[in-house]
Amino acid sequence: LFAKVEMAPRDPILGLSEQFNADPNPKKVNLGVGVYYDDNGKLPLLACVAQAEKQMVEAPKARGYLPIDGIAAYDKAVQGLVFGADSEVVKGGRVATVQAVGGTGGLKIGADFLKRLNPAAKVLISDPSWENHRALFTNAGFPVDAYPYYDAERRGVAFDAMLAALGQADAGTIVVLHACCHNPTGYDITPAQWQQVIDVVKSRGLVPFLDMAYQGFGQGIAEDGAVVQQFLAAGIDFFVSTSFSKSFSLYGERVGALSVVCSSAEEAGRVLSQLKIVIRTNYSNPPTHGAQVVATVLTTPELRRMWEEELAGMRARIKLMRTALVDKLTAAGFKGDLSYITRQQGMFSYSGLNKDQMVRLRNEFGVYGVDSGRICVAALNSHNIDAVAAAMAAVA
Ligand code: LMR
Repeated sequence: LFAKVEMAPRDPILGLSEQFNADPNPKKVNLGVGVYYDDNGKLPLLACVAQAEKQMVEAPKARGYLPIDGIAAYDKAVQGLVFGADSEVVKGGRVATVQAVGGTGGLKIGADFLKRLNPAAKVLISDPSWENHRALFTNAGFPVDAYPYYDAERRGVAFDAMLAALGQADAGTIVVLHACCHNPTGYDITPAQWQQVIDVVKSRGLVPFLDMAYQGFGQGIAEDGAVVQQFLAAGIDFFVSTSFSKSFSLYGERVGALSVVCSSAEEAGRVLSQLKIVIRTNYSNPPTHGAQVVATVLTTPELRRMWEEELAGMRARIKLMRTALVDKLTAAGFKGDLSYITRQQGMFSYSGLNKDQMVRLRNEFGVYGVDSGRICVAALNSHNIDAVAAAMAAVA
């Protein structure tokens, strides 16, 4: 039966973690996967999460099946966070939101739904994009192409080329956009540029799919979510996938959501019924724990305040690491303008190092980053940054 099964390549990101875990080098540093570690290199358990879990343990509940679309209070809290609890779309019942197995789950539910809705559509992702975007939409049955995004020479966004490519896309093309903290480059577009993108999307009848996995890691929760308000103001239908893996440090709980903004409450009801079929035929219904934690934190004022503070702390430490990396690289003799490192947003820095250099970093220094040159700045700390900077300078 399996004689013809080929060995698949390792996942470009999670496969690196497998390789990292198997490496006996005591000085190894994992800057591959997008995970935030504290200054002691430890994965944080947020105090707001611990507090919510304590409350849950003190009032234990049996675990029945959840509704197919998840915990109602969770879906409502997601809508409040992403769109605003008092927004016209939420109050008017125009958003269909379902709990999903992480942000990836949200993307896949949306992709499967879109495939049924418009089987002939194409998908456009940014060049470059999160490695899994292409694979996920390809596996959902779509042809996947890319719009220009990264300008290597100017270290920023190739915005004119991006806009021109979107301006030539066929009506109905699904355009995957990073709402904030672009993965992998760290370069975001400005609100004015977003407006130009939205105008093109609207005039050409494209289908925007916002991937929002890093809300709160750029400028702030509201600031990073502002693009959603711009899309709402444009009056178009769109998709948003949400992840709480990073912002709640709940990676292993797989807590995410998919929201679909529709033109009417009646339409949202029909869309929701289809999303539920996608979920039911994939994994039936979602798990309880992580979503209950997030719902408890988001709806309990004291815990919510704690969460916002803790997220601000993570954001500030990443910025500190960016500045420190510039200083250390400069001290290690790294030539050239490094200011791009502090201009980038979120967990990642597109270092500009090529694949050979990334392989050398891994093999000679035990510093693991993605072959594309992406390093996770959120995994740097005051104990490992000297060694990382020295290694980067050595291979550059
Ligand atoms: C990443 O880009 O490293 C994260 O989104 C984790 C993942 O699932 O790839």
